[in-house]
Amino acid sequence: MAFNLKGRSLLTLLDYTQKEIQFLIQLSAQLKIDKYAGRSNRNLEGKNIALLFEKPSTRTRCAFTVAAIDEGAHPEYLGANDIQLGKKETVKDTARVLGRMFDGMQFRGSAHKTVEDLAKYAGVPVWNGLTDSYHPTQALADFLTVYEEFGRFDGISVTYAGDGRNNVANSLMIASAKLGIDYRVVTPQKLNPDKKLVDLCLTIAKNTGAKITITDDVKTGVTNTDVIYTDVWASMGEENLIAERIALLKPYQVNKAMFDMTQKSNTIFLHCLPCFHNQDTITSSQYPDICEATEEIFESDASRVFDQAENRLHTIKAVMVATLGK
Ligand code: CP
Ligand code: NVA
Repeated sequence: MAFNLKGRSLLTLLDYTQKEIQFLIQLSAQLKIDKYAGRSNRNLEGKNIALLFEKPSTRTRCAFTVAAIDEGAHPEYLGANDIQLGKKETVKDTARVLGRMFDGMQFRGSAHKTVEDLAKYAGVPVWNGLTDSYHPTQALADFLTVYEEFGRFDGISVTYAGDGRNNVANSLMIASAKLGIDYRVVTPQKLNPDKKLVDLCLTIAKNTGAKITITDDVKTGVTNTDVIYTDVWASMGEENLIAERIALLKPYQVNKAMFDMTQKSNTIFLHCLPCFHNQDTITSSQYPDICEATEEIFESDASRVFDQAENRLHTIKAVMVATLGK
């Protein structure tokens, strides 16, 4: 299975078909094998890639950087204080300038409209490395990890417990709808995903056999599930909501009691990272109750979080190779 995605941007997985998403995951797996075998395909030889970051990042930045260099491209990091994006120069003008110099660009920031405008005016592929609304390259890595574990998507259930309306949850729901997954969001009603997006995913699900369940009842959401996934309770930019979110989301913490409720022995734990799971960070020492997953689960045999983090590299590489490679 091979698809021509040359010249395409990746803003949300809504823009990609089921087969195109499957192809990107398959290509990621192949590029992972190539890297382990010491093979470099130099698919991006001579390309220059701009990495625009309004928000901080460990995994996404490093994955784009290493993937670009592995394939022979030159990545250029442009942080929030390095360029004028939206401050002294419009996004539209920045896009047209960078598009004259670079062959592709990644954007991470707040407003989804910024990445849409970059893609509209740059004239080169633009990849969304996280906005307030979506985190599509994360969902690709998540489903590569699921595939590596179970060898299939058919019949797989994924439960997302926590802030059901954030970027990671939205992209997981879209990818699940496209890939035919039984996707369950376990969240307080106040944090339900946007109804329009749920309705869109339900429409997609009609054609793929996916199931989308939104519930505030933990037992309903986790019984018999193959994957329990969570993310931070307050995303970047929501720091003022931390206390409120702790109160709302404590009953949805991923812990042993939740795993026992699955009534399965091979359920895996996923998290996009970074994760609060102990008191060893500055933020968790300020907010001792901020802990979306217990240390016990994070460090358990069920945890695949570092495979998932590594898979950011292989999936981001696949996106760049497929859309920009020779
Ligand atoms: N998961 C993820 O996007 O991590 P970073 O914020 O470190 O890029
Ligand atoms: N929802 C989180 C994801 C971080 C990778 C955030 O936006 O901060």
